[in-house]
Amino acid sequence: MTVVTRRVFAGAALGAGLAAPAMAQGAFPNKPITMVIPFAAGGPTDTVGRLIAQAMSVDLGQPVVVENVGGAGGTLGAQRVANARPDGYTILLHHIGMATTPTLYRRLAYDPINGFETLGLVTEVPMTLVARRNIEANNLAELVALIRQKGEGLNYANAGIGAASHLCGLLFMQAVNTRMTTVPYRGTGPAMNDLVAGTVDLMCDQTTNTTEQIRAGTIRAFAVTTPERLSALPDLPTAAQGGLPGFEVSVWHGLYAPKGTPAPVAARLNQALLKALQDPTIERRFADLGTAPVPVARATPQAHREFWQADIAKWRPLIQAAGQFAD
Ligand code: MLT
Repeated sequence: MTVVTRRVFAGAALGAGLAAPAMAQGAFPNKPITMVIPFAAGGPTDTVGRLIAQAMSVDLGQPVVVENVGGAGGTLGAQRVANARPDGYTILLHHIGMATTPTLYRRLAYDPINGFETLGLVTEVPMTLVARRNIEANNLAELVALIRQKGEGLNYANAGIGAASHLCGLLFMQAVNTRMTTVPYRGTGPAMNDLVAGTVDLMCDQTTNTTEQIRAGTIRAFAVTTPERLSALPDLPTAAQGGLPGFEVSVWHGLYAPKGTPAPVAARLNQALLKALQDPTIERRFADLGTAPVPVARATPQAHREFWQADIAKWRPLIQAAGQFAD
């Protein structure tokens, strides 16, 4: 299912940045840019994307309009951008799914590796193992015991094959050697609504979607999937501290344009991204949500491409060994 929502950042077109060289030549951008988010509104990719879009709007002097194209684990949104006109006016904010879908999906209506220009990495986000508030467990050891007892009697929410929540769930179920019933959504934004309502039992999701709910006590958190605890959630043990050493995963996000986007246009978009990543408001908001912008040296198109290609190679054998494919 595809859902499309749009929001324009009013007033952004009047921002600074009109002195940038490309703008001075009147070349790019001279109209609004669409940033496709390949998951539902209100979820973690959407949260990161909207913050970045707003900051980039200011530097580019044009609105960056967020369009949520959710469904099929992020591949519908990626397809929309890969097949768009390569003029810089349609860009994609996507996550680790860019590294896993080339192996997970054996048939796609776009080229998941050669269909894009990289514009820069954005952030790396820790994940948290969370459950409905009234789950019958007080810590990770008790949760694992409950999962082993109930197995497929428990529902695990995710955002479809290729989503970070799918990947994290796969690793978690491998770590506890038990399967739960998977419930796919267009994104973990809507999945979070059901977790808060208690109609699904568990989820592994990015801190950008879980931190505020954990603090508000509307859901229960059992572990963070990083080697160290997070300053945003200092009371939350790591998975290793909770008894699952090696259960580690974090989610990186990057910005893309269709293959063939002219180099000066890609450079202008990267320039705006670098500025956004150094914006103190973005840094503060990201920190509050348990993440941080990547250092600018990692946000160049070249560094992004190298990281992405290495991650495709890293995940390929793991996915093949798990035998998880979507056709
Ligand atoms: C989202 O924005 O909904 C997510 O990033 C979903 C996911 O990958 O788990």
